[in-house]
Amino acid sequence: MNLRTLLPMLALLPLAACGSSDSPASTTATAPAAEPSAPMDLAAGAAYFETTCASCHGKEGHGDGAAAAALNPKPRNLADKAWQDSVDDNYLREIIMKGGAAVGKSPLMPPNPQLEGKEDVLNGIVAHVRSLAK
Ligand code: HEC
Repeated sequence: MNLRTLLPMLALLPLAACGSSDSPASTTATAPAAEPSAPMDLAAGAAYFETTCASCHGKEGHGDGAAAAALNPKPRNLADKAWQDSVDDNYLREIIMKGGAAVGKSPLMPPNPQLEGKEDVLNGIVAHVRSLAK
């Protein structure tokens, strides 16, 4: 269980404590989180980056993947902190899902429609990209 699913459950604990003694707190503890929290699968995101993104972006995001030589413009250094600070997570999700053309960048940055409905993997990829910042 990750922190984001744990937090809403922790928020419910005081409610459970106030409940009458014949409704055991355990029913509250095992109930699904009331709000859909942002799911994140960091391991799957990192694996996806290595198999699908690193060919162009390089394992460390330096823009030195095997396929990068043929790209024009070349992908920027994703490890660059100034660039990282200049973009938000929604932008990253959008360019990953819809490709460069959708955000006014090169169409050589491909869309990833196979991530449709896989919020946890998409968020994991974004977190992985964030982790590349040096
Ligand atoms: C076929 C090569 C290729 C693959 C595969 C690829 N990209 Fe890109 N990517 C590019 C290129 C080229 C650019 C530069 C676009 C530009 O600057 O106009 C880019 C740009 C980006 C940017 C920076 C956008 C910006 O604001 O400069 C991010 C973030 C990014 N890609 C993430 C990813 C992720 C994550 C994946 C895997 C899911 C991925 N890319 C897969 C080629 C690729």
